[in-house]
Amino acid sequence: TGAFTYDPGFTSTASCESKITYIDGDEGTLLYRGYPIEQLAEHGDFLETCYLLLYGELPTPVQKQDFDTRVTRHTMLHEQMARFFSGFRRDAHPMAIMVGVVGALAAFYHDSTDISDPHQRMVASLRMVAKMPTIAAMAYKYSIGQPFVYPNNELGYAANFLNMCFSVPAEKYEVNPVLARAMDRIFILHADHEQNASTSTVRLAGSSGANPFACIAAGIACLWGPAHGGANEAALNMLHEIGNLDSVDKYVAKAKDKNDPFRLMGFGHRVYKNYDPRARIMQTTCHEVLNELGIKDDPALDVAIELEKIALSDEYFVEKKLYPNIDFYSGITLRALGFPAEMFTVLFALARTVGWIAQWKEMVEDPSQRIGRPRQLYTGATQRDYVDINKR
Ligand code: CMC
Repeated sequence: TGAFTYDPGFTSTASCESKITYIDGDEGTLLYRGYPIEQLAEHGDFLETCYLLLYGELPTPVQKQDFDTRVTRHTMLHEQMARFFSGFRRDAHPMAIMVGVVGALAAFYHDSTDISDPHQRMVASLRMVAKMPTIAAMAYKYSIGQPFVYPNNELGYAANFLNMCFSVPAEKYEVNPVLARAMDRIFILHADHEQNASTSTVRLAGSSGANPFACIAAGIACLWGPAHGGANEAALNMLHEIGNLDSVDKYVAKAKDKNDPFRLMGFGHRVYKNYDPRARIMQTTCHEVLNELGIKDDPALDVAIELEKIALSDEYFVEKKLYPNIDFYSGITLRALGFPAEMFTVLFALARTVGWIAQWKEMVEDPSQRIGRPRQLYTGATQRDYVDINKR
């Protein structure tokens, strides 16, 4: 009993207090622990961002080195887990593999499932930040039928990930530092985004006391949808489908047509009613990657730039405040880095893991935390009597 508010999609419900990430959707501002995303992406690296999200402050040089070493110590996956992959069909979507394998971490690292122990909570956090690239790279290697490449802890976080994805035993492969820096920046951009659908899923799962690995697996499952993390894959598919500049107008018209379910993927955001600050950095990163690789003509990029130009000056999009979001340019960039479209959301999950964990830890450590339990407006049948099956 008692009054409650009907709020489908939770557009006006604050589900928690948080000190981690701040978004001003009207201004297009994104801060991690108070620091603007632009500054972190330009000056910092991903592990520094991880430290910041988990501990609340930027690390000193000693703290940073210690953190990097601690993450590095956990990059290997239990060998039995590596065998887990072969249970999946070869053509399984790598996100399906991620949901399964990350959930299964709880079966291998029992010690960190004790959420009442602060030390174990941090060990679980480090384990996931460290192992996610290894799991993601294995999911990729499995899907293309190549042997797994084990982590090389001499390399930085992003460079190690690229090496695990793209080196093959028979060939010499050296990670291009410009591309590794771009990968690292993409991870920073995706690291956290306050109470989005997957983070709320992680918190809701965690509110029952579930172990952190299970909670992150729940977050990955939620992220997979095309309205959320799956949008980067969908955006690139859309740019390919549009194909050339002549077709742009037709697709803009489709997006505006109320009777057509088509939406411009990579456009619009629940919170940003201004340019998504991450999209701007992603656009610059996209150009840097294409330049480095000497890619001069990318039809998908041409279509994206034209689409953005038309949409930003079109009354429909202006009125509804629909701007490009992070996913608009990320697909083109990730494809240029060498990833197939099925891997895009996996990379999002890899990077978002630290945000999910930071949010999970914050929740578990909040003394006012209660199990998440939304109410509903019941619109079904009123009470009625059971009718015997032969009399229906
Ligand atoms: N193309 C055309 N029209 C759109 C679009 C779009 N991409 N997005 C929203 N609209 C229209 C929508 O039809 C609605 O119009 P009306 O008021 O006339 O019914 C209005 O704008 C508001 O849309 P909404 O669906 O009520 O807004 P929402 O806050 O529930 O949804 C969204 C936000 C991101 C799911 C939505 O904009 C969308 O589907 N975008 C495409 C998918 C996408 O790019 N997702 C990635 C989000 S950023 C990364 C992440 O966080 O995962």
